[in-house]
Order: sequence, then C-alpha cells, then structure tokens
Amino acid sequence: MNKKNKIMMSPSLIASDLSNMAAIVKTFDPSIIDLLHLDVMDGNFVPNITFGPDYAKALKAHTDIPLDVHLMIENPEKYVEDFAQSEPWCITFHYEATRFSARLLQKIRDLKTRSGISINPSTPVESIFDIAVYADMILIMSVEPGFYGQKFIPNSLNKIEKLKKFLCDNKLNTLIQVDGGINSQNISDVVSAGADIVVAGGSAFVDNLVNENVKKMMSTIT
Ligand code: DX5
Ligand code: ZN
Repeated sequence: MNKKNKIMMSPSLIASDLSNMAAIVKTFDPSIIDLLHLDVMDGNFVPNITFGPDYAKALKAHTDIPLDVHLMIENPEKYVEDFAQSEPWCITFHYEATRFSARLLQKIRDLKTRSGISINPSTPVESIFDIAVYADMILIMSVEPGFYGQKFIPNSLNKIEKLKKFLCDNKLNTLIQVDGGINSQNISDVVSAGADIVVAGGSAFVDNLVNENVKKMMSTIT
C-alpha cells in the first residue's frame, strides 16, 4: 500500500467507554472504520494497565472489523501466541521491549499474523532499518506510549518521512502506522509524510460519534 491507496483508520478503543465495548464496536461502520486498535499495557513497559489476550478474544466475537493489537508490554515474546488466538490483523510490539526483534517479527509471521514493530518518540527511526524486511508494519509513536489524549510530537513527521524514503529506496512494502495525538488539524500532514494507517483515540471518540468523527477527519486529508 502507498499514499495513493486508501488510508486506513484504526480508532483506539482505550478512548471509548470501556464498560460497554461490545455494544460500541457493533455501531462501527466497516466502510469507515478499517481496524480496531487495541492498546495492551502491562504497568511495566508503560505506567498504565489495560487489556489481556482473553479480552481480545471476547471482543472479536462482537465484530467483523479486524483487531490491530498494539503491545506496550515487557517480554512481548511470552504473549504473542496468546494474542494470535484472536486472529488479529496485526500484532505490534515495541523495539524497546525486547533484544530479539527480528526473531519476534518472524515468530508473529509464523503465527499467520502480520508482524508489526513500534518505536517510542526517543528512539531514532534508523534503529529499525536493519530489521524492516521482517516487518509488515512499522508503528511510529507520535506521543509517549501509555495514555490517550496527549499532544502530537511534531518531530514525528521527520521520522515518518525518513522511514518512507528508506522503505521506497529499498523497495519494501512495509506499511507505516502512526499513533498518538492525531486529529483533523494534523492528519493531513501525517499522511503526506507517509502514513498508511492512522490511529486516533481522543479525536475519534469525541461525543462517542466515532463514524462521524472519523469520516470528518478523513475528509480533511488533502
Ligand atoms: C498511547 C496509545 C495510543 C493512544 C491514541 O499509548 O498507543 O493508541 O491511545 O490516543 P490519542 O489519539 O488520543 O493520542
Ligand atoms: Zn496504540
């Protein structure tokens, strides 16, 4: 996929009413909402704690929209098999959370799932160039992971551009996902820089009008 193809939108469920998720995902229009971004946090890699693999499996029973699992956990290698049971569209772990990124990306592919790797704002994008060939998706964090509703870090745009150029120069069709602080003011810049998949938490769930908010946000992409 490249910029000429459809940009995919993955609303971050953590910004939703967590007590009512089964009903909420049923209201999502699959022609507008491409993926469901599930932020998995363990209270160690990040300060917050959210969902486990059983939650992912339970949620899957209520929707046909595929799950986009973002693991913000230590020892991700211990949990990818459990998360693969919910047959997600992609499983993404953090570069900073393991010493064996290449092996883990291959393990996720062996589980018949797209493999994703993410980098924090302080990690240089060049860190993952050598292993990009094993990744189906690279997730650039545009806020520090842990919470929704934070402000977009402007330097993320440079990182996306550098990554896009590297992928093009090396003829890799790895997708670029961007996550954190994205709204209708900056989504167009994020897409112009090279994003294929956009995550939106706070901005997507304003007044719980997710279909409408996402549609409006996507229409601002020039
Ligand atoms: C942050 C999460 C994000 C976040 C996005 O740790 O990975 O997915 O929930 O929410 P917004 O768009 O509000 O920054
Ligand atoms: Zn996320």
